[in-house]
Amino acid sequence: MGVIPEKRLLIEGGRRLDGELRLQGAKNSALPILTAAFLTGGVSEIHNCPDLTDVDAAIRILRHLGCRVSRQEGVVTVDATQAADATVPDELMREMRSSIVFLGAILARCGSARVCFPGGCELGPRPVDLHLAALRRMGAVIREDHGSLDCTVPAGRLHGANIAFSFPSVGATENVMIAAATAEGRTLLTNAAREPEILDLARYLTACGARIDGAGEGVITIEGVRSLHGARHAVIGDRIAAATYLAAAAVTGGRCSLTGCDPVALASVLPIFEEMGCRLRIEGRTVALEGGGRLRAPRHIRTMPYPGFPTDAQAPFMAMSAVAEGHTVFVENIFENRYRHVSELCRMGAHIKVEGRVAVVEGVPSLQSAEVEASDLRGGAALIVAGLCADGETAVAGMHHVYRGYEDIEGMLRALGASVRTG
Ligand code: UD1
Repeated sequence: MGVIPEKRLLIEGGRRLDGELRLQGAKNSALPILTAAFLTGGVSEIHNCPDLTDVDAAIRILRHLGCRVSRQEGVVTVDATQAADATVPDELMREMRSSIVFLGAILARCGSARVCFPGGCELGPRPVDLHLAALRRMGAVIREDHGSLDCTVPAGRLHGANIAFSFPSVGATENVMIAAATAEGRTLLTNAAREPEILDLARYLTACGARIDGAGEGVITIEGVRSLHGARHAVIGDRIAAATYLAAAAVTGGRCSLTGCDPVALASVLPIFEEMGCRLRIEGRTVALEGGGRLRAPRHIRTMPYPGFPTDAQAPFMAMSAVAEGHTVFVENIFENRYRHVSELCRMGAHIKVEGRVAVVEGVPSLQSAEVEASDLRGGAALIVAGLCADGETAVAGMHHVYRGYEDIEGMLRALGASVRTG
């Protein structure tokens, strides 16, 4: 039997979007929280958990590890009481790069772990050296063997350590926080990542009985406790999905009101919408954007660790800059290979030149529809944003990348009045 070709997203461009959306839960919070649920050994209820293929992958890993996982609407219940297995099969590990965060949870709970390297990915090499060095400092012995990581904790239990990162890696910060939660003694982590998702993970772990201080700041102290229990937790709103839907409305000169998002977490992206000529209204946890007229190109967009401009929003913003008046200089400081959407945007008539980490976008009055292919999650979102304002029908292939991070993207865009269908 042949492989059924994946459906493409077909977008009839040029419709002005206008509507209200309730934001999905954050992918980058839900994944480490589900991972940490394994460590607790209890029963946890995770609310506002987005319906994404990456979340499905995390659930498959949890089940393989022996957890009972059920899902109803946006609530995922993880029963980790019987979990026992300490290995993650290669095919599960490769489904999702962030599965490396399972290493800290498995080592802390089981005293050993065997997983394969998550490997490189579509964003360029994605080393895990910071993760491994930190876990070694906490007493793990890790042997790298033909693409596998064979790990043991000779003392039986990890111990606290002073750990300083040379770069504030999000995943490595999460790995250390999870592993240190039940380690013996205190862990002091400096140059930790400060993303809102780190704070969300800390809130969940704290609800489970962990003692964590400073999450969301550069220095985190974790006082290890003997054991944890399950907890109920609601995942924060997805700030990257928020930026993407606001970009989708802005590029059509339309309007969008988003509820369920924290405007503070969007502090580095909202001023750029204003610089581009959009009006914003913020009330509590609702952000409303109103576009109109041609967008003005922002001069510079430099991606930085939080609270700087997020690398995950770079591609959707590039799609907006592509049709704005003027030039924008993008500097991608987080990942080496995060401009794979550029060639596809150029096929739609965008004028973009890339030199290493720098992309210079010269805005054009309009884009033309084309058959394009997403090669990563946020790059796919950028092609959709571009398709919404292009003349004619754009077909976006490679949608499986997009479904990793956007819950029901067709339904969300339709709710804003877009003409989209799969086919
Ligand atoms: C997380 C997010 C991803 C986001 C990224 C940066 C999740 C599931 N994913 O990915 O959406 O784009 O943060 O905000 O939360 N690095 C090393 N050695 C390491 C670890 C990282 O050199 O051991 C480098 C990476 O190659 C990359 C940079 O650090 O260049 C940032 O990576 P990191 O912050 O770890 O990103 P992730 O946790 O993988």
